[in-house]
Amino acid sequence: MSIVDQIRQGNVLVLTINNPPVNAFSPGVPEGLHAGLDAAEQDQAIKSVVIIGGGRTFIAGADIKTFDLPREQSPDLRGFIVRLDAFAKPTVAAIHGTALGGGLEVALACTYRVAVKDAMLGLPEVKLGVLPGAGGTQRLPRVVGAQKALEMMLSGNPIKASEAAGLGLVDEIVDGDLLTGAVKFAEAHADARPLPRISEKTAEGSPEVFAAAREGIKKTHRGQLAPSFIIDLAEKATTTPFQEGWDAEASLFMQAKDSPQSRGLRHIFFAEREAGKIAGLGKDTPQSEIKSVGIIGAGTMGGGIAMNFLNAGMPVMIVETAQDALDRGLATIRKNYENTAKKGRMTQDDVEKRMGLLTPTLDMADLKDADIIIEAVFENMDVKKDIFTKLDGIAKPGAILASNTSTLDVNEIASVTKRPESVIGLHFFSPANVMKLLEIVRADKTSASVLATSMALAKKIKKVGVVVGVCDGFVGNRMIHRYSDEARQLVEAGAAPQDVDAAMNGLGLPMGPFQMGDMAGLDIGYAIRQHQAKVAGKPKPDGWLDRIVEKGRKGQKTAAGIYDYGEDRKPKPNAEVTQLLSNYRAEQGITPREVGQEEAAKRLTYSLVNEGAKILEEGIAQRAGDIDVIYIYGYGFPAYRGGPMQYADEQGLKNVVADLEQYGQTPAPLLKQLADAGGTFAGWDKGAGRG
Ligand code: CAA
Repeated sequence: MSIVDQIRQGNVLVLTINNPPVNAFSPGVPEGLHAGLDAAEQDQAIKSVVIIGGGRTFIAGADIKTFDLPREQSPDLRGFIVRLDAFAKPTVAAIHGTALGGGLEVALACTYRVAVKDAMLGLPEVKLGVLPGAGGTQRLPRVVGAQKALEMMLSGNPIKASEAAGLGLVDEIVDGDLLTGAVKFAEAHADARPLPRISEKTAEGSPEVFAAAREGIKKTHRGQLAPSFIIDLAEKATTTPFQEGWDAEASLFMQAKDSPQSRGLRHIFFAEREAGKIAGLGKDTPQSEIKSVGIIGAGTMGGGIAMNFLNAGMPVMIVETAQDALDRGLATIRKNYENTAKKGRMTQDDVEKRMGLLTPTLDMADLKDADIIIEAVFENMDVKKDIFTKLDGIAKPGAILASNTSTLDVNEIASVTKRPESVIGLHFFSPANVMKLLEIVRADKTSASVLATSMALAKKIKKVGVVVGVCDGFVGNRMIHRYSDEARQLVEAGAAPQDVDAAMNGLGLPMGPFQMGDMAGLDIGYAIRQHQAKVAGKPKPDGWLDRIVEKGRKGQKTAAGIYDYGEDRKPKPNAEVTQLLSNYRAEQGITPREVGQEEAAKRLTYSLVNEGAKILEEGIAQRAGDIDVIYIYGYGFPAYRGGPMQYADEQGLKNVVADLEQYGQTPAPLLKQLADAGGTFAGWDKGAGRG
């Protein structure tokens, strides 16, 4: 088997691409395809050509790993497409699995496209901060019209072959064996002349369509480069000859590809996939089968967690201590589903199916048959220990015992059981049915099998699982504590809370630290600070934020926190808070100074980076990429910045260290070491700096 096999079937030459796992357009693929076209050209008996993917898919796109190679070393997709478009004999793309990006572009340059009905077709480049760079922006609008093409290219979401057939993007749906159907189709169209070429068609699209798209991306893709390029190019497809749009596409593609935004998004694409790999755990690590789930606690977290499993079709038993709490929990879950149904994203039948999988109980002993039990009760060590002691006597052997703790020591929780190897932390993020992140907390004695099973379970419920070690706050919350401290100090020094938030909004975070604090509830941090001081025998904390909480301003839930909230729930600065801040500074002898947005953004972001470096050194996270994935899926850090660690790499670690020192912070030893050596976190991940 070679990278592109040539097999004659009668008068049809079949070219099969064998480049597992996803038949990306890697080095070797264009050469193989050109050789196939050469053969078809030279052999008079060959009347048509079929291009098909071997294995599980058609071409899933350009090879993203080659994006940073010098041009002469990267596979020449555009060159191949030019030849394919001009080819004198009919060519048929036979599509199964996914035809994405460059893959769909190859298909669009073929004379015809046939597909099995569950195949998916799309141009997802925008998700990588680029645009379709091999004719997609010019050909797709010529087939489906500018409006639909923009919808596909701006969302990046693929469509089913059945829908594609309705749009004329697929010429025939093949029932049964794809290759047989494709060869038959190729034979039937062998003599069609002139050959229909998409590049010779005109594209439909009115100025209103483009104006609406430009308005739309202000909300969906604020601050991003590629989406506006896509709109400009789709517009060109409707107004200029093909060649002009094709040339413009090449130059805008290069501009987008070489931007930090695309580097950030590509980093996250690979980091997300790497995060699923656990050092020291082979693919053959035994996993247990999870068919039923027990959840302790029907509050906001417990209910949200339950919904993930119900959505995946798994039966869930949910435990509470009192009937009214149980009823409330169930009612909330139902209400959430019914709201989704009202928006048309689920049928009433789906709601009932999910609710039918949910069994409420007041008796923890009912969890005796569950394959995994997740505790989601109040964040208190004694309460959790009590529950795990009980669970140890109830759960069947081999069941996974998980805690949803966001900060507590999972080793200590495991220590009360006789089976610490079965205990793990599964830290969901609120709202647990929405947020994609799952921190999988590996305790000292957690077994490899429990870890591997938990990672697989994360995938099953469509979460991005990231393995972290035990420490206060694990990765995400430990870093956010440092970040919140820094934000408080900025205000103490003289910044207005709204300016600090604006600095982070400017970086693309939907919420700055104070908007986030108000949303989460200021009383939570307050209680933690008070508790920690008490335990440490320190005086009662009395910072400006503590004083705000003591005025009853707890955040959005009281319509007043650092900001005021009206009907529109938009944060508005409050005069009383402004006064409280100046009184506080005066009392502390602080002369307020102007804090610029640049300083605020740097101090906040680099406080995350610095803590992240410590986390890496301590082995709490496996990779800098894991930290980035956590920040993007758990804390709203914009994916196009690649996460805080990638952002630091982009700024240059030497500059990060210099800024940290200028702002009076001590750079973490690993950060300093990498900066001194001219290294990066990405390089460290690849093993460059690790022993
Ligand atoms: N290039 C390089 N590697 C790729 C790749 C690509 N286009 N697509 C997937 N891979 C790799 C993944 O990194 C992963 O590698 P590891 O096993 O080493 O981690 C492996 O293939 C399998 O991928 P998934 O784990 O994602 O497998 P899946 O079955 O869940 O999903 C998929 C398959 C839907 C194809 C998904 O991988 C995907 O969405 N890939 C990206 C598709 C894409 O964006 N294509 C456009 C590329 S840009 C382009 O084409 C530009 C242009 O116009 C010139």
